[in-house]
Amino acid sequence: MGIGNKQEQVRIKRELKRAVQDFWNMNPCAGPDHDYASRFEWLKKTERYAYEILNPDVVRDKLILEVGCGQGFMANYVARWAKHVTAIDISEESLNFAKLGSEELGVKNVNYHYGDAEDLSFPDNKFDLVYSLGVLHHTPNTQKGINELYRVLKPGGNVVVMLYKKHNPKWLAVVFFRVLSKFVDLIMHKEFYIADKLRESYIKKSYAFHGTALLELFWLSCFEDVFKRAAKTDV
Ligand SMILES: C[S@@+](CC[C@H](N)C(=O)[O-])C[C@H]1O[C@@H](n2cnc3c(N)ncnc32)[C@H](O)[C@@H]1O
Repeated sequence: MGIGNKQEQVRIKRELKRAVQDFWNMNPCAGPDHDYASRFEWLKKTERYAYEILNPDVVRDKLILEVGCGQGFMANYVARWAKHVTAIDISEESLNFAKLGSEELGVKNVNYHYGDAEDLSFPDNKFDLVYSLGVLHHTPNTQKGINELYRVLKPGGNVVVMLYKKHNPKWLAVVFFRVLSKFVDLIMHKEFYIADKLRESYIKKSYAFHGTALLELFWLSCFEDVFKRAAKTDV
């Protein structure tokens, strides 16, 4: 690959990361429910697997890092038993909701920081347990994120990662949107045409917090090879 091409790749990756960030700032994961406590209870029922895996015995007295905490539902849950939880996300808006959630629930041992899964600002071997739920398929370089999770993990520690499963309806929808996007890009001579238009209209109309489903599918359809890598790990 020539230098020009490499620079172009770097530029595209940077723009993709910015797009991911904008997207989650506009649509903090799990929506805009202002009653944090009731949304928290609802998630415990609908995403039971995560609460079963990160159960009190697994998290007790541990120094924990959550990567991509969104509105902090899981961080606030495991904090009840953990020694301390550090929770990072690339979306400042989500982190604000997460902090409000901790205040509402009276949780004191979680610290929230802005951070990028692909470039964690922690030293090697720091945490007993590192987890990341539904995040690493949203970042342009999934493998880099996985490497970072292991880098900051103490020897003998545990990593828990949830990625979307191959061949489920969401995956199929993303494949469909990806083909559609590529086809439209070819006709329009522009990359990520549909996703950009959708994003522009969301920004113009200030459609913050209108749910993530459709927009997420379009965004995901832009991310090169993400599903090839994501499919390698099933929960
Ligand atoms: C589907 S949500 C999941 C949120 C949370 N883990 C949960 O289960 O409720 C994906 C989250 O990943 C975050 N995210 C995406 N790419 C990221 C990155 N490179 N670094 C950190 N967070 C990222 C988004 O901001 C968003 O909050």
